[in-house]
Amino acid sequence: MKILLLGSGAREHAIAMKIRESRLCEELFISPANAGMISEGVCVNLGNDFEKIKSFAVEQGIDILVVGNEQPLVDGIADSFASDEHTRHINVIGPKKAAAMLEGSKDFAKEFMFKNNIPTARYRTFGKEDLNEAKQFLKTMNPPYVLKADGLAAGKGVVILPTLEEAEAELDAMLSQAKFGDASAKVVIEEFLSGIECSVFVLTDGKHYKILPEAKDYKRIGEGDTGLNTGGMGSVSPVVFADKEFMQKVEDRIIRPTIEGLQKDNLEYRGFIFIGLMSVAGEPYVIEYNVRMGDPETESVMPRIESDLVEAFDLIGKGELDKYEMKIKSDYCTTVMLVSKGYPESYEKGKVMSGMDLCEDCFLFHAGTKADEEGRILTAGGRVIAVTSFGKTMQEALANCYRQAEKIDFEGKTLRRDIGKDLMNLLK
Ligand code: AMP
Ligand code: GLY
Repeated sequence: MKILLLGSGAREHAIAMKIRESRLCEELFISPANAGMISEGVCVNLGNDFEKIKSFAVEQGIDILVVGNEQPLVDGIADSFASDEHTRHINVIGPKKAAAMLEGSKDFAKEFMFKNNIPTARYRTFGKEDLNEAKQFLKTMNPPYVLKADGLAAGKGVVILPTLEEAEAELDAMLSQAKFGDASAKVVIEEFLSGIECSVFVLTDGKHYKILPEAKDYKRIGEGDTGLNTGGMGSVSPVVFADKEFMQKVEDRIIRPTIEGLQKDNLEYRGFIFIGLMSVAGEPYVIEYNVRMGDPETESVMPRIESDLVEAFDLIGKGELDKYEMKIKSDYCTTVMLVSKGYPESYEKGKVMSGMDLCEDCFLFHAGTKADEEGRILTAGGRVIAVTSFGKTMQEALANCYRQAEKIDFEGKTLRRDIGKDLMNLLK
């Protein structure tokens, strides 16, 4: 089969690796890709224009389109392929626009959860005209206050504030001053959930589903989960507290009702569902849905999947995912992200990278990298490269990640040295 993968992050690099190892994969194209993906497939740059992507898919005889990132899905790429007679036959891994609203609108997602009795934090949604009412509602909540821009805001739309004054000021900024543009035309105010987070991933054909390995990511730039939020500094899989009993609750209370809810509302969904969970004293609550895989969770999840992912994609296209046997490796897989100094605020690009050829027993998934004319690899983003490793234990996997990460060099290399530490404390 010929496959086109859209994306350029370490997440897509990990998915590309998994696709390429499939016996069903005849040819893999990746757009817009990065320097690390050159060895995984044919890299092209098709941009965001659906017509251009479709023409390419037709010319190359693409059978499967895998969409890594949420934006094209929220913009309706699956609908665009389905409504065109030339591309209708292409199996798009990613939901239709209406279903992608699970990520595209927090208000839509919350309503969906309440309607389907899926455990989530208590909330209300307010528009610009409801500012006073929103401030009254804030007063009924306990600190800290959770404010979420309704639309896509490049992962920055959630603000958690310790005092009522700060929460009111933020509400003003979001609603009246359009802090996140159109994305904050509506704001969800919700109850703060105290617990430990976990990311659960599901593959579905809209009717049947398979659960992928769960993972935990580390979002803050600073050790001990301090400082600004980033695109992710590391991840581990499996997650020690997500044991059989917890995952059974997740399946019964969240996954099954989610799939049934999609069917009830005729929301066509083929692809990955990423459920961001909070375990509150062992009980799972949904923090958010995403309509794609997580980054950097995918880097620790893909290597653990033993079965053929392309076979799952193919069965999704046929609506027969129930026939897929998902085999998962029991070993731990962990990821440490190397980032540019200054990230997630301003940082420099174009630093020469070295040492990747010295790394052993690990996967290197590129994020922000590019090759220059001389074939050197340069940094080209805030998050630069993910170092992923297996181990019999989480400690062993992480120790190897850090050993390999030492060998990679570029000016300003920055990393968190405490990935997985909170989970190790749980093991004690
Ligand atoms: P989201 O973009 O919805 O994933 O939110 C970003 C992060 O904010 C989450 O990963 C959580 O760490 C945190 N968060 C979101 N909602 C809540 C909540 N209701 N209670 C506590 N933390 C939350
Ligand atoms: N790791 C969180 C995300 O991908 O949104």
